Amino acid sequence: MHKVLMVCLGNICRSPLAQGILETISKKNNFPIHVDSAGTGNWHSGSAPDKRSIEVAKKYGIDISQQKARQFSTEDFKKFHKIYAMDTQNYRDLLRLCSNEEECDKVALILNVLNKEERLSVPDPYYGGKDGFENIYRLLYSACERIVADFTK
Ligand code: 4NP
Repeated sequence: MHKVLMVCLGNICRSPLAQGILETISKKNNFPIHVDSAGTGNWHSGSAPDKRSIEVAKKYGIDISQQKARQFSTEDFKKFHKIYAMDTQNYRDLLRLCSNEEECDKVALILNVLNKEERLSVPDPYYGGKDGFENIYRLLYSACERIVADFTK
C-alpha cells in the first residue's frame, strides 16, 4: 500500500488537516493509501490538532479530532514512500535529515503538485485568525485532489 507522510512544524495545524483531507479524498476514490503526519518540532507531541483545524475540517465533513501530534523521525524516511513538506522551512529541515538519495528524493513541497515553478508554502496559520484556516483548507484540498488524481491516472 502507498504510504504518505505530511510534515509541518508543530503537527497541530497544517499537516493534520492535510492527512485528514488526503485520507478522505482517497477513500472517495477507492484508492488504498496509508497517510500519517508529523512535525519537525516536538513542542506539541501527544496533543490533538489545533481547535481551529478541527473546526474547519468538521465544517467540510472531515473528523481529525482523534489525531495525536508526533515529531518526525528519520525512521519515517524508511516507512513512507512520499513525504510532503508544508513549507520551504520544513522542506529544508527534512533535506538536512535525509541520509541518501533515495530518502531525499521522497521529500517534496506539497504545493509543488499544483505549481512546480513557484515553490509556494502552505502559510503557517498558527498566529492568525480563522480565515487562515479556511485558506489552508482550500490549498490542501486542491493539492490532495491532485495527488490522488496523479496516483489513479
Ligand atoms: P503547524 O502550525 O506547523 O501547521 O502545526 C504551528 C503550530 C504551532 C507552532 C507553530 C506552527 N508553534 O510555534 O507552537
